[in-house]
Amino acid sequence: MPGETGASKPIDLLIYGPRKEVIDQGFPAGYVLHKCERADDLEKLSDEARGRIRGIAVTGLVPTDAAMLARFPKLEIVASFGVGYDHVDSAWAAQHGVIVTNTPDVLTEEVADTALGLLIATLREFIRADKYVRAGRWQTQDYPLSTGSLRDRKVGMVGMGRIGQAIARRLDASLVPVVYHSRKPAAGVAYQHYPNLIEMAKEVDTLVVITPGGPTTAKLINAGVLDALGPRGVVINVARGSVIDEAALIEALKSGKILAAGLDVFAAEPTVPEELRAMDNVVLLPHIGSASVVTRNAMNQLVVDNLKAWFSGRPPLTPVAETPVKGR
Ligand code: 8YV
Repeated sequence: MPGETGASKPIDLLIYGPRKEVIDQGFPAGYVLHKCERADDLEKLSDEARGRIRGIAVTGLVPTDAAMLARFPKLEIVASFGVGYDHVDSAWAAQHGVIVTNTPDVLTEEVADTALGLLIATLREFIRADKYVRAGRWQTQDYPLSTGSLRDRKVGMVGMGRIGQAIARRLDASLVPVVYHSRKPAAGVAYQHYPNLIEMAKEVDTLVVITPGGPTTAKLINAGVLDALGPRGVVINVARGSVIDEAALIEALKSGKILAAGLDVFAAEPTVPEELRAMDNVVLLPHIGSASVVTRNAMNQLVVDNLKAWFSGRPPLTPVAETPVKGR
């Protein structure tokens, strides 16, 4: 802890990840910032610098696995940008006494707004309709009625954490019935809980995916789930691409097994399969769930505040469940 090692000693941090807007400022004098945008850049850090780094700010979805973390013998804290931290090996961190923090709450309402917007854009074909106007086609014919509508839908949420609940509140306001699937029922939530995803998919026509990524949810939305959802089915994903079996989704969209999809996240982003890009029954966003200036500033600030709190001898503000911190 800084208090123990002497407050006047500089604190070396690694700013790791692709986002240029993240964490350039915010650190008072006394911090030395080393920057690596990609995993390859880590090779350019001198052994001496690696040996001094005590905190890492992870500014994007860069692999922050055991092998990467183990290169920093003095590491105390990893402050990750974003609420999802499946790219950070928090189990390794817990075993090695390293704290991991994320940025919950500050992005909840923004991501929920994005999810609802994406759902409505997908159902009511906003992107296709926009293209129709731009192409001058309205002059000759009205745009056809959309097959999809929120009015006759029942939504099955996959995940009912903070963001899931914020999405469900928006659906309540839109008078859309909501049920949910998660491993355990969420505390304080009145919506019907389905422990079995297939059973839920049979009962709804719309899935909104907002569950953490990582091995426990990998390809959770598979061909069987899409079959159960049926031909009116719409899938919205604002979680992680890994949660959906992308090949099965493409097949289901192509064959009419389901109606449409709205996707903010992809299995190998920023690469989006050509087959998806060619379909007009999908709305594709470049992982912008939280990507507004106001929300990204708040996320940035929370990353910085977690690091500053830790290195001034206070508990970090938002440690993840795997690395809880008692008052310091
Ligand atoms: C960020 C996100 O775009 O919070 C998350 O989990 O997916 C987004 O808000 C992502 O974390 C970028 O690093």
